[in-house]
Order: sequence, then structure tokens, then C-alpha cells
Amino acid sequence: MSPSSHNDPHHIHLNLNVRGLKPSATLAINEKSKQLQDEGREIFRLGLGQSPFPVPDILVEELKKNAHQKDYLAVKGLAPLREVIAAHYQRREGVAYRLDDVLIGPGSKELMFLIQLVYYGDLVIPTPSWVSYAPQASIIGRNVHWIKAREEDGWRLSAQVLEEHCRPDPTRPRIVILNYPNNPTGTSYSDQELKALALVARRYKVILLSDEIYGETRFDGQHVSIAKHYPEGTIISGGLSKWAGAGGWRLGCFIFPEQLHWLRDAIAVAASETFTSTSAPIQYAAIKAYEPGNELQQYITDTRRVLERVGLYVHAQLVEAKLKVSAPDGGFYLLPSFEHHKQKLNGRGILTSDQLSSRLLAETGVAALPGSDFGLPEEFLCLRIAYVDFDGTKALNEAAKIATSDPLPDVFMTRHAPRIVEATRRIVQWLED
Ligand SMILES: Cc1ncc(COP(=O)(O)O)c(C=O)c1O
Repeated sequence: MSPSSHNDPHHIHLNLNVRGLKPSATLAINEKSKQLQDEGREIFRLGLGQSPFPVPDILVEELKKNAHQKDYLAVKGLAPLREVIAAHYQRREGVAYRLDDVLIGPGSKELMFLIQLVYYGDLVIPTPSWVSYAPQASIIGRNVHWIKAREEDGWRLSAQVLEEHCRPDPTRPRIVILNYPNNPTGTSYSDQELKALALVARRYKVILLSDEIYGETRFDGQHVSIAKHYPEGTIISGGLSKWAGAGGWRLGCFIFPEQLHWLRDAIAVAASETFTSTSAPIQYAAIKAYEPGNELQQYITDTRRVLERVGLYVHAQLVEAKLKVSAPDGGFYLLPSFEHHKQKLNGRGILTSDQLSSRLLAETGVAALPGSDFGLPEEFLCLRIAYVDFDGTKALNEAAKIATSDPLPDVFMTRHAPRIVEATRRIVQWLED
């Protein structure tokens, strides 16, 4: 919403659910960074969580070949695409998925909005969580319950906390969103932890929306879905945006168990009256993304190696500067807490994570999002860092020259991610000053 719309008397005609909502937090910091850049400032863009890597050539070629596809497609998606996606998840999770279980949408974000629109129940999300779940629920008018993940658990939601949330009102309809590898923390769950969460979810018949958009980026390649342990109540959410560097292509998918096909159908009705169908050329091109193929496997392996190298580098530097931060398992985020430096920062007039974010940007040029955007208390001093300000194409090409069995050397950072090195140095220096 632009500031002028607040002054416009027609503003009072806005639906109460959207009145006062700001544009998506990640987009706002991006705009602010751009503006400072236009003023000639050097900005390190660790705010927006966009993959630094190019879309794999093989997918770009497929898209070119399919530019002529002009027809509206079926609302649930293109059949051959749904088929290869079902096969992909069946291979990965060992759950017998079929074409019919897959729903395609223009980004998983849109499908998440529609599921909340058609399902009458509470939205339960861990603190911290990705920036858009809660505003989506507010726009629709659903109750949002934040349940606390603990910093000492690497911000993972524990089965016990979920149990304590559900027990007092055991039959209440709920959607619980679980996201791993996680945005904003970069951490994932062990199979044991997923098993324990699945037991509780089954006990209270909650619908688990398992946001696995970063699944393929998990550094060790060992991502597993909670659907393996609670197939009947889990919807897997995925898409091309993160692992294939194709956020702007807008291709997302939900995978439903047969028991939840009624929900799939309701979303398809809402979809048919809103976006109609997902872009045809993109859907044709996406078929290749889900077919097993060596070229793509190499791309996935090398992007993971680069992300791991960069993530662990930033993590180590921040730990040395006495920031509390969990080591990342995948994705491209870290959530360092500055609480250890609270007294000093309070002394500089920094009392909230919002102030921490804007002062860091103004004084060092490093853009990162405040923890409060992710549901953490305002006065809890932490930032989400997206370690993506480097040339992904170059880094990927260089990583491909180094044998997969060899770790990427230390000089990789200074050579191929110098802006990350400099941004990290500036954060640490700023703290020490
Ligand atoms: C945790 C998480 N879930 C979902 C999305 C949405 O992805 P898309 O709508 O591009 O599929 C994002 C994108 O930033 C994300 O970080």
C-alpha cells in the first residue's frame, strides 16, 4: 500500500482484513535497498530470499521449445507434469502417489492462500515462521495461533509443544504448517523428530501442510518428508522456485493423500474462478525438472555444495562474533540472535529488531530482515540473513570444476562470494565498534 492511499478518504472502504497490512516484508526491504543503491550507496542484499543460481539450461531450452503453447490448461495442471511430480515424490518418500494426487499452481504461495480460503479451521504456525503464512490467514479472516519453537532446539518445533497446543481442544479443525529446511532459520528436522511430530498430528487429526520448497537444497541430500510418517494427513508443498532458481517462473505444487482429495477439489474450484490454470509454457518446461536426469542432478549437487560453503562460512564468522546462530542444514538463510550484545545495542538506541535492521542498513549498507517479521517478539534482537548476494552462475561454474568428492576450498569464498565476505565483515565490525 502506498503512503498516499492512507490519506485517500476511500481508504476507509478497504476490507477490514487488509486494512493496515503492509506489502510483504521481504519485498519492502528490497525496495528500500534499491532506493539506497540508486542514491549511490553500496548495498549488500541479504534481505530478499531469492536463489542466486540461474535456471538450469536444460529447463530454459524446454521453455523455449514450448513458447508456442497457448491454450488454457486443466485447472489442476498438465497431466504429464502431474504424473512426473507424483513419480518424483513416490521415489523420494516411498509413498504411493499418483497423478491424481498432484495439484499445480502459479507458485506454492498461491496454493497456500487458497487452502486457507477453502478450509474452515485455525492456522497453526511455529514462531518463527516465513513471513507470508500469517498475513494470508489475516486476509482471509482465519485465526492464527503461533506456537513457540525454542532457540535451544535450533528453532525446531517440538512434538511436545504441538501436543500442548492441541490437547486442550483436541477436535478443533486445524492446519499446521511445518517448513524444513526452514525459512528463516536454515535448519531442518531429523527423521526421529519428524516421526514424533507425526504421532501428535495423527492423534489430533490435524492437517499438516509440509512446506518443503527448500527440500532439494538440503546440503546432505537427505531431505525426507513427514508424509512418510503421516501420509494420510500430510499435504506436501513444493515447486521450482528455490532449488531450480526459478522463483519468477511461478510454478508450485501440492501433493495430497487420497484421504484429502476433497480438499484438493475445493482448492481447484477456487482456482478455476481465480487464476484459471498455471502458465502453459512453464508447465510443459517443468516436466523436465521432475524427470530423473544426470544434468539436473549435477546442478542440484553443485548448488548444494556452494550453498553449504557459503552458509557455513557466514555461520562460523557470526559465531566468532558471539552471535547465537544455528548451523544451516539447507536453504540459504541464517537467523543470528544479537541478544548477547543487547546491552551495547540498547545503549546505541537499538531496542527492537526493526531498529536493528534499519540501523545496520543505514550504517553498513547490509540489508537483512528483522526477526519480528517472522513472528518473534519485537524486542528480541535478531535478523534473518539470506546469504545470496553473490554471482550464482559464476560460483556454480567454478564449483563444477572441483571434483564432487572434494570440499570447496577456503579461497572459494573470497574469489566467488566476495560480497558475502565483505557483508559479514561489516556486520562483525559494526558490532565491535
Ligand atoms: C518458506 C517458503 N514457503 C513458500 C514460499 C513460496 O514459494 P513460491 O510461491 O515461489 O512457490 C517461499 C518463498 O519465499 C518460502 O520461503
